Amino acid sequence: MKNSSVFYKGWLAILCIAGLLETNAYAQTITIPVETAKTAIVLQVAPNKDVNTIYLGKKLSNPGEYGNIPGVYQQGNNYSGMYNSAYTPAGSRNLLEPAIAVTHADGNNSLDLKYVNHSVTRVSDDISLLSIKLKDPVYDFEVTLYYKSYYNEDVIEQWSVIEHHEKGDVVLQKFASANINLNAGSYWLRQYHGDWAKEMRPEETELTHGIKTLDSKLGTRADLFMPSVFMVSLNHPATEDEGSVLFGSLEWSGNFKTDLEIDPQDNLRVISGMNNYASPYQLAAGQAFETPPFVYTFSAEGKGKASRNLQSWARNYKLVDGKGTRMTLLNNWESTNFDFNETKLSELLKDTKKLGVDLFLLDDGWFGNSYPRNSDHAGLGDWQENRKKLPNGIAAIAREAQSNGVKFGIWIEPEMVNPKSDLYAKHPDWVIKQQKREEYYFRNQLVLDLSNAQVQDFVYHIVDSLFIKDPALAYIKWDCNAVIYNAYSVHLHQNQSQFYVEYVRGLYKVLQRIRAKYPNVPMMLCSGGGGRVDYGALQYFTEFWPSDNTDPIERIFIQWEYSYFYPAIASANHVTDWGKQPLKFRVDVAMMGKLGFDIVVDKLSGNDLKFCQDAIPTYNNIKPIIWQGDQYRLSDPRTESVASLMYVNADRSSAVMLNYLVNYRYDEGSKRPILLKGLDSNKKYKIKEINLYPGAKSAINATKVYSGDFLSKVGFNPVVNLDRTSVVLQINVVKE
Ligand code: GLA
Repeated sequence: MKNSSVFYKGWLAILCIAGLLETNAYAQTITIPVETAKTAIVLQVAPNKDVNTIYLGKKLSNPGEYGNIPGVYQQGNNYSGMYNSAYTPAGSRNLLEPAIAVTHADGNNSLDLKYVNHSVTRVSDDISLLSIKLKDPVYDFEVTLYYKSYYNEDVIEQWSVIEHHEKGDVVLQKFASANINLNAGSYWLRQYHGDWAKEMRPEETELTHGIKTLDSKLGTRADLFMPSVFMVSLNHPATEDEGSVLFGSLEWSGNFKTDLEIDPQDNLRVISGMNNYASPYQLAAGQAFETPPFVYTFSAEGKGKASRNLQSWARNYKLVDGKGTRMTLLNNWESTNFDFNETKLSELLKDTKKLGVDLFLLDDGWFGNSYPRNSDHAGLGDWQENRKKLPNGIAAIAREAQSNGVKFGIWIEPEMVNPKSDLYAKHPDWVIKQQKREEYYFRNQLVLDLSNAQVQDFVYHIVDSLFIKDPALAYIKWDCNAVIYNAYSVHLHQNQSQFYVEYVRGLYKVLQRIRAKYPNVPMMLCSGGGGRVDYGALQYFTEFWPSDNTDPIERIFIQWEYSYFYPAIASANHVTDWGKQPLKFRVDVAMMGKLGFDIVVDKLSGNDLKFCQDAIPTYNNIKPIIWQGDQYRLSDPRTESVASLMYVNADRSSAVMLNYLVNYRYDEGSKRPILLKGLDSNKKYKIKEINLYPGAKSAINATKVYSGDFLSKVGFNPVVNLDRTSVVLQINVVKE
């Protein structure tokens, strides 16, 4: 079939919105490009009304040429033409992994989806929403595909809405959010695995034919072993600044499944959505089933650019208060564990003030009376102040915080219950467990059934009553320490296979209610460390806890990998006593994101205390650059002895460069200059070392002037060595 001429008359904007209509003697196709500043994904309606993805890559200068991209149906194969389906249906002409599989009301398992229409809504100057309606020609069953594009950020969110009007329920066997297709000579997957204290360990391999699955079946704390974030490089592994790479992630805090399949024509199909494991979903006629967004960004300029895309998208649109500010805090978990009382807390509040941070965060252990929370064996579910530890209640602590001039925050883990609790005794039907099997615990606890509206109410009121009792409450740490074993919901009766989906929907309903009433209160998303870091949850949170592992060497690696997908402002990095590095090193590492402390202040030496007290105003000075600036990775801790990264503000007048020694062998350090990135080559800069330990002299000459051009080509040596294991540099434009 010959390629047809494009029906293009220069009214670009209208065509982009309406789709490009191609006609020729044989057939008619509609080409639908979705463009961002640098990327395009191009969909095409084939003559047989299949909707295919014919392109995902750098956008073209002339959108009229999208219509010249060969469609699948033009490639002359004898197969189904479904290799590049924009949403592959199962049971008809598809031979590969489907995006959607259903059992119709009459028991039939076949599905075909044909184009009906599409429309584009302009949400703002930056955001457009394309929707494409598809329908089965035989059954009254339809799917609408959504593509929400963020132009400046080069980010796209994709999801689907499934509906039917059959005579009876339809069972959704599989229900992906997105089905995207890439075309290259080879594909290189960077994926992550982990466990408690071992979050975000990367593995990068070339994909081979067949399916590679990234998934979770843990229910809650779903990312414990594997988060849904991944990268796929095209043709060769992308580096920081070179190569084509797609970053993707499902915005969902429960079971997910991402299949990466190289098809017989060597295309890569990426199908991502809620995991259909144990989850055939019965859908009533007229009811809409909405899948969570799959977010992705494509960069032809390496991983660094892709990460900056996601970071700015998250700050602009996803995180609560992403463009706002954050509080520095002192947490008591590492210093007291469960062991504290009013007197102890009163000392800690004074320490908070002495240290100079904004807020004191009271961690686990403050609640439970019949079963006091003195260890992780009892008390979860009974959210009343422990009368022995806090005879005058939380309100008294909050008042005392106020009189010390600091704010007060509190830890909760509201989705959970210890069998040793009043809640468990009172509401055994609220607990997820197999009724006829022995209970099996994760951290001695079980998960509450958030598919049940009564439980949602209970969880909402835990938070609401904390605020009612103490309106000045300024921070919540929301923890989630258990996975789901023995999944069974009393509430769902016969609909057990809806459980995993309804749990997360229930959680989101609670979080939506909380945010409706308390839109701006900072909340930290924690899950025994980073067991629940995803954009589905982060839309309700201001920050996340990357890991309980706060050894600073470990943290460099963990924070480094998270930073590919999440902005620094969202990463709560606390200085603790973990690890063997000096205090300065620990503080410098925590400055990579949102600085906090979890140390025993009154055990600090005079110089250590002075150092911390000075570090806070130093940090306050640079935090706008770290939180809102562009991040550049300069020297990778996995391949170099020194980890080095920098943040640059919007007008490129100020930057912060953070450098850490990660290899402690003889004579290791920064042997040669490190190339700086993101500065203006026409501007002149001075570089000054900051955050020095009391009495330390800097090895950096702060009076020298360098051009941005020089710093990007020749570089700068931060002089990191065994005597100077961490170096923080402030780079400021010289006013001429
Ligand atoms: C989890 C969190 C920790 C701490 C404890 C309290 O492990 O990740 O930061 O809050 O729970 O039990």
